Amino acid sequence: MKSVLDFRWAHRKGEKITMVTSYDAWSARLIADSPVDCILVGDSASMVMHGAESTLGADLDMMEMHVRAVKRGAPQTFIVGDMPFLSHRKGLESAMTAVERLSRAGASAVKLEGADGHLDIVQHIVESGIPVMGHLGLTPQFIHGLGGYRVQGKTDEDARRLMNQAKGLEASGCFAIVLECIPEQIATNITESVSIPTIGIGSGPGTSGQVLVLQDMLGLSKDFNPVFVRKYLDGASLVGGALAQFAADVKQSAFPTLDESYMS
Ligand code: KIV
Repeated sequence: MKSVLDFRWAHRKGEKITMVTSYDAWSARLIADSPVDCILVGDSASMVMHGAESTLGADLDMMEMHVRAVKRGAPQTFIVGDMPFLSHRKGLESAMTAVERLSRAGASAVKLEGADGHLDIVQHIVESGIPVMGHLGLTPQFIHGLGGYRVQGKTDEDARRLMNQAKGLEASGCFAIVLECIPEQIATNITESVSIPTIGIGSGPGTSGQVLVLQDMLGLSKDFNPVFVRKYLDGASLVGGALAQFAADVKQSAFPTLDESYMS
């Protein structure tokens, strides 16, 4: 996908939208060469790439650096950059500084978590010409308020609140909304009630598209096995096997051979 218009057209045609995370140039290049529609430079970078326990440590410097690297690897791909923790909750200037830096680094759009209390900021960003993707449900930046990583929208009241938030984001100009860890029927209801596409993760098959963290779908995160992740590769075993083989080859003087060496 090249622009927000492609999202609109895909959605109108009923085509599912695919998004995968990337934080670096080499994986961005692989995604750009695949049929996956777009890239999310998520603040999950702080956990996946930097080993942090939550996404709260992803600051603007970190997000800007990862967006810039991804842009170098996938210059033609639609890139969504995550607004870091609290950047859109400290007033318009803070929000627009983050938007500006992510956009200049190469983001085609920004994604921000939540809705209550910052719909005016969403609208201002959109009216400034920067597409905004919303993010509702299990919003990791709200981890302490939510009390843990758990499915959201299970009670009628919570489901109603999610629906209102989705409609608020739509009315504020968002071009799409990520729905994370919401019961599939609630996610389907929201999808059928808004005119913009929803991109699900852990929210069942009824959304307009799906997003996964690249390392999860490649099976590289050995100890992360939630029900909603399908591992398309046993990456941890494959990489582990390659490393073991390299180590054994070197120890046994089987690598490099003369064919793998420069001759004078
Ligand atoms: O940061 C991230 O990777 C995300 C996705 C899980 C949706 O927000």
